[in-house]
Amino acid sequence: MQLRKLSAGFGAESEAFGAPFQEVWDAFFAAQVLVMRGLRLTARQFLEFACRFGRPEPHVIDQFHHPEHADILILSNRNTNGEPAGLADAGTYFHTDYSYLEVPARCTMLYSIEVPRKGGDTLFADQYAAYDDLPASMKRRIENLAALHHYGNRDDLDRSSRTVASVLTEDQEEKLAWVKHPLVRSHPVTGRKALYAVSGSSFGIEGMAENEALGLLDELKRHATQDKYQLRLKYGVGDLVIWDNASLLHSATLTAPEDPRTLWRITVKEESKK
Ligand SMILES: [Fe+2]
Repeated sequence: MQLRKLSAGFGAESEAFGAPFQEVWDAFFAAQVLVMRGLRLTARQFLEFACRFGRPEPHVIDQFHHPEHADILILSNRNTNGEPAGLADAGTYFHTDYSYLEVPARCTMLYSIEVPRKGGDTLFADQYAAYDDLPASMKRRIENLAALHHYGNRDDLDRSSRTVASVLTEDQEEKLAWVKHPLVRSHPVTGRKALYAVSGSSFGIEGMAENEALGLLDELKRHATQDKYQLRLKYGVGDLVIWDNASLLHSATLTAPEDPRTLWRITVKEESKK
């Protein structure tokens, strides 16, 4: 499988959609972001590829599931007959997917259907490197801490804002509870330590006063989202992008509402802890 690096640190592009799966798997976890450009996939082909990585879990926002395949979430700012065709403005802040669930996401895949003239890039931040660079004193301080997670964006809880976590219905909210994850997490596949979800759904730290916990989380977030850890990904039509949620934070970037954009998304969970 031929790979081209997307940055000095991480990310790779490859044309080998049909390569032996073990090679795709290894290349993916080594690169953290794997991009395959200009494919022409049906929803079924996209789903079949995703299932090789593990079990997809439909998003809690169930009103925008693909009509034939509920595991596919439609991200779109289009309107059809006055109704939104998909979820718009999702995840425009640094977070990692499903960190608000007990078993979080292994990887998320986006297949690009329609690309806006401007914007719509995805930003990724390398949480292996962010962890490695911490001073030894900070590594010791956070080594055994557990962060408390809940659906939402710690930095924006205003339901009318475009950068709030996508607003849930009451029924959807009822399905979600508080969960705990280590702040420093050994990657379930590679074993490497990474900072985990210091931005996004982390709202506290177990056994720590709220002010102190938020101060520490914010300090770690500022460190972990510095430009030097980031990669900006631009999409073309037919691009398939897979990212590793255990070693990255990511953020969508806003687009003009009148500039059409559509993607299909599948999120695959880590193995259950049982
Ligand atoms: Fe996301």
